[in-house]
Amino acid sequence: MMGLRTKGGIAAALLVAAMTLPSIATAQSAAELVSMKRDYRRPPPLPVTNPALVELGRELFYDTQISASGKTACASCHFKELGWAVTDPQSRNDSGKLTSRKSQPLLGVGHMGKAPVNWDGRSASLEAQAKSSIATGSMSMQETQTPVKVEVIEARIRANEAYVAKFERALPGTPINVDSIAAALAAFERTLEPGIAPFDRWIEGDGQAISEAAKRGFVLFSTSKTNCFACHTGWRFTDDLFHDIGSSTTDLGRGRVVKDDEQAQYAFKTPTLRSVALRPPYLHNASRQTLHDVLVHYEKGGIDRPSRSPLMMPIQLTEAERQDLIAFMETLTEEPQAVGRGSYERLP
Ligand code: HEC
Ligand code: HEC
Repeated sequence: MMGLRTKGGIAAALLVAAMTLPSIATAQSAAELVSMKRDYRRPPPLPVTNPALVELGRELFYDTQISASGKTACASCHFKELGWAVTDPQSRNDSGKLTSRKSQPLLGVGHMGKAPVNWDGRSASLEAQAKSSIATGSMSMQETQTPVKVEVIEARIRANEAYVAKFERALPGTPINVDSIAAALAAFERTLEPGIAPFDRWIEGDGQAISEAAKRGFVLFSTSKTNCFACHTGWRFTDDLFHDIGSSTTDLGRGRVVKDDEQAQYAFKTPTLRSVALRPPYLHNASRQTLHDVLVHYEKGGIDRPSRSPLMMPIQLTEAERQDLIAFMETLTEEPQAVGRGSYERLP
């Protein structure tokens, strides 16, 4: 078996072999599967260092007052019940225009470290993203004849006594401006921990938490037969990097930001697969309607062009294997009733 990930790869190889062998081999490979599952264990939620700032950020995230028109909120395009994403192929921004790409999921964004933000990585941090969204992006009226200056939005928040008190508590002595607003929003976003999913319970040892089909799907996903794990890596199922998966897009993606890098052309940030089943249609341009459609794309391997990731290649799946992969991806949906380790919002 070549190209398998180190520890887990050997386990997977054994497991795949075991599936076709008499049960004598199964006990051994079950032990190996345990070691393979270790790569998917969740880290503890990120510590909240400034709860007052997070609370303020949560309020601002839902407040339309931080948009130019006073009608759009961050939450207008990032729905909690959809993993902080949307099911609309495009969303209507504060200028009344459709966004050029599908909104991204915010589940787990606190764990992306210093990775660039947005499908094309044009923002250097969550703070920078929030600031540009308010000043010139989807929360602004830049695409209209009557743009609103960011100073007007700042003054609106400064005129609100309740906000003044909350800013003073969260960031004593700091002026209320787009930077402090962005700091609060980013602090809140970092608490959007993916809630516990059946997959997590299985990883933690509950053998009944997911179906046999999903377990087979996990093995397929995590081995070189499909290579999915190479980009959808670890417990969040993303490497936070940019890849051209060879879709028939006309959008240059990362290539618009990094113009002289061949590999960046048509490359997009690997989305987390946490709660992925909740948010069809798929990809930055919503060009795939279902998870099944996404798999059909991966089977073809995408358009062969200089920018296409070397990790992409045609793969062969039977319909049963497609169903197993889908069953696996469905186990990544967070359970709304989970309390304690899920998103900050669910904590008592
Ligand atoms: C009109 C819809 C809309 C509104 C309003 C909106 N967003 Fe978004 N959001 C999007 C879209 C579309 C993208 C993908 C943009 C791209 O990459 O071109 C996105 C991407 C993001 C990302 C990048 C995630 C990642 O993994 O890289 C973050 C973070 C984010 N939005 C936070 C916010 C915050 C905070 C606000 C409020 C200040 C906000 N959004 C308001 C539609 C919206
Ligand atoms: C070369 C890296 C790479 C490999 C290999 C890979 N993916 Fe992806 N995946 C991505 C990127 C990048 C995107 C976003 C592309 C876009 O928006 O155009 C994506 C998007 C997706 C989506 C859509 C998610 C959403 O929110 O829209 C799903 C589902 C998915 N991949 C599943 C898989 C499966 C299953 C496999 C294995 C058969 C796989 N991926 C292999 C990088 C990869």
